[in-house]
Amino acid sequence: MADKNISTQEKWDTIYSSAEKQPKIASEVLRENQHLLPASGKALDFACGLGANALLLAAQGLETHAWDISEVAVARLAEEAEARGLHIHTEARDLVAQPPQPESFDVIVSCHFLERPLNPHLLAALRPGGLLFYQTFTLERVDGAGPQNPEFRLHENELLTMFPGLRVLVYREEGLVGDTQRGFRSRAMLVAQKRS
Ligand SMILES: C[S@@+](CC[C@H](N)C(=O)[O-])C[C@H]1O[C@@H](n2cnc3c(N)ncnc32)[C@H](O)[C@@H]1O
Repeated sequence: MADKNISTQEKWDTIYSSAEKQPKIASEVLRENQHLLPASGKALDFACGLGANALLLAAQGLETHAWDISEVAVARLAEEAEARGLHIHTEARDLVAQPPQPESFDVIVSCHFLERPLNPHLLAALRPGGLLFYQTFTLERVDGAGPQNPEFRLHENELLTMFPGLRVLVYREEGLVGDTQRGFRSRAMLVAQKRS
């Protein structure tokens, strides 16, 4: 692994070593659109962290894979999955160096990991008819959550244009319109399908 990514791994291992024991609940894009998931198939939680999304996918009955650069995070996810009687294929993996293979997943969930050069790999990794669930932070924000570096936050409507060719099923980005104390703020979400 390149030096840059060893330090990325160390950074995230440190964070996950001191994080709360339980994974947080699954991301809104998955919880609110769970009914769109297929009854079977192969799913990937991309940069899974503690894997709340992977746990939901596995509980749904999908053959679930969960990859993250942090060995600590995937080890904790494997433990949690076992405790819940679920099977998840966890892997400590640098996704920049080793993105997924083309046409290898029916469902890909990518949350709070904006690495734009990987977008073509995500697109290619979907099987025909496959679904992408994507959510991450926007530049327009109402709170301090997420990365402070603007490079790692979405521009207005950027997520709508990031995966050309997919059929958009759900898009939500509320910016600063209306009552900013309510709604889905500081993030954008997309559910989109690869054409068969
Ligand atoms: C903000 S967390 C998001 C975790 C989870 N997807 C969620 O929404 O809670 C970003 C994740 O990206 C992972 N990550 C960062 N660089 C990575 C890389 N090059 N390859 C794989 N995972 C990486 C980190 O370890 C971390 O778990």
